[in-house]
Amino acid sequence: MCGIIGYCGPLDAQKVLLDGLTQLEYRGYDSAGIALFDEKSRIHFIKKTGKVAALRQVCEETPILSHCGIGHTRWATHGGVTGENAHPHIVGRVTMIHNGIIENYQYLTEKYRLGERLHSQTDTEVAAAALNEIYDGEPFEAIRELLSQLEGSYAFCIMFEDRPGEIYAVRNVSPLVAAHMGSGAMIASDLTALLPYSKKYFVVPEEQIVKLTAYSVSLYTLDGKKEAPELLEASWNTDAAMKNGFEHFMLKEIHEQPEVLKKTLVPRLNKGLPDFSDEKLPDSLLKEVSSIRIIACGTAMHAGIVARSLIEPRLRIPVTVSIASEFRYEEPLIDEKTLTIVISQSGETIDTLAALRLAKERHSPVISIVNVKGSTIARESDYVIYTHGGPEIAVASTKAYTVQIAALYLLFCRMALVRRVYSEDHARRFTESLLACASAMETMIRQKDTINELVTHIVNCPDAFFIGRGMDYAFSLEGALKLKEISYIHAEAYAAGELKHGTIALITDHVPVIAIATQKPILAKTVSNIREIRARGAYVVLLMTEDETLEESLADVFVRIPKLDDKFTVFPIAVVLQLIAYYASVQKGLDVDQPRNLAKSVTVE
Ligand code: M6R
Repeated sequence: MCGIIGYCGPLDAQKVLLDGLTQLEYRGYDSAGIALFDEKSRIHFIKKTGKVAALRQVCEETPILSHCGIGHTRWATHGGVTGENAHPHIVGRVTMIHNGIIENYQYLTEKYRLGERLHSQTDTEVAAAALNEIYDGEPFEAIRELLSQLEGSYAFCIMFEDRPGEIYAVRNVSPLVAAHMGSGAMIASDLTALLPYSKKYFVVPEEQIVKLTAYSVSLYTLDGKKEAPELLEASWNTDAAMKNGFEHFMLKEIHEQPEVLKKTLVPRLNKGLPDFSDEKLPDSLLKEVSSIRIIACGTAMHAGIVARSLIEPRLRIPVTVSIASEFRYEEPLIDEKTLTIVISQSGETIDTLAALRLAKERHSPVISIVNVKGSTIARESDYVIYTHGGPEIAVASTKAYTVQIAALYLLFCRMALVRRVYSEDHARRFTESLLACASAMETMIRQKDTINELVTHIVNCPDAFFIGRGMDYAFSLEGALKLKEISYIHAEAYAAGELKHGTIALITDHVPVIAIATQKPILAKTVSNIREIRARGAYVVLLMTEDETLEESLADVFVRIPKLDDKFTVFPIAVVLQLIAYYASVQKGLDVDQPRNLAKSVTVE
């Protein structure tokens, strides 16, 4: 959840760290801090509650000339948002930043009798203090000894007072990537902080120690053997992680959807047919599985629910969607005949990762749909289908959702083909229609001003409801989540037919209801449900395809999407729902990209 960065080299370390923390801020933004070796090899630190901008202001007032330092942006897990709890934590000769959770901090506190000596409520300070107790001038041995005692997840960057110009890092589960470039050595929680300096990087393997100096980044196994890192090349460029003239990352990412949809699909089409040979995904697997288990969290899980509505009725095999954090505790019925599909933008979500590991333990083959190359989920899966969404910086997921759905649709199409549910012609028509969704999304993006206007009727209401049937209900779930997370309007999604079993009691005059009615076979039923809420005074925004004609009195506002087959309406509908949430947040003057209490990547359970 937190963002961490370390730098050694000829550049101004304070500036490099602050710029990097700005890039990493979406991972957590409760407080931030840096620690630097100055020219006389003394360690200075500055910590501040609030955003990186607040830290930057203090740093600019008291610049420190430095060429080696570490920085952290926090999402509080252990102890409140206070200056003491902000990182770095300095105990004796050890200065530490941390992303993750140390589960056995109480044991360590007792073992090293740290109680009276701690200044914060964090598990990180306990780890730093324990390391200080162990450290006798030999960093590798001390880190190795600390790790042998730790339980939990961690990515640490550590500076030792008597080792100026050096940074040590190690991780278990929590992500770390590192690079050595002409202008020094760098390590960070994710690629966005490295991109301005280097496109070549490596993922730090778990339980290996990285040592950074101005001249090198070296990787060592825990028993001290030097290893050659496996270099990767980023396909993203720096522009991809910038706003490029858009007011917010979220708006930019909404606009990018038509393009990234094509980027995800086109490389996997061979003469119009889905082709996963680059992913080495065997047809035999897709042909032989008898059920599918989709596992993910939040928006990624909603993408899974859309896929379920597509796959199960057509392939006639059971498809279950599980919330990753629940999966482990529901005694899942999975075996080697169950295909597990895990979905994750970041590839680091800890609940999803834990579920993946359980699925593998039960011998279920795992395909992951992941956006971040080299991420833990990608590396631990049997097969990876990368979505080519580029970096998603806004905490509210937008383009990741639509490219996840695109990848799942393509996977479905390949399954339909190899299981002889679709002929080649049918599959070609399917992929053509899927590609055409890019232009349907563009059409809706062009209507953003109209959507901004309709939002003025919703923005001051405490509650909003999203309703639909079948696939439309699946889309509603994402619409409600988007609105809640960035506008703080309480929003709920309901299957339209279910409203009258309780929830309709909440529908009174002017209560906003976003009704989605794009599924033709059940349109009449959805319309009846809309009439029921209309009769109770609801303010209805109706999302439907342009080819349908419905009575004008059915809604206050109609938003018409291009005519598409029912299966594909998710793409333009997603754009409309994202824009509703976006403009609600903007009109309320909220922090669109970094909503309160959230972080982009959830690496704690
Ligand atoms: O990185 P992941 O796709 O695994 O993240 C899953 C959820 O945390 C994420 O989709 C979250 O729900 C978004 N903030 C929603 O906009």
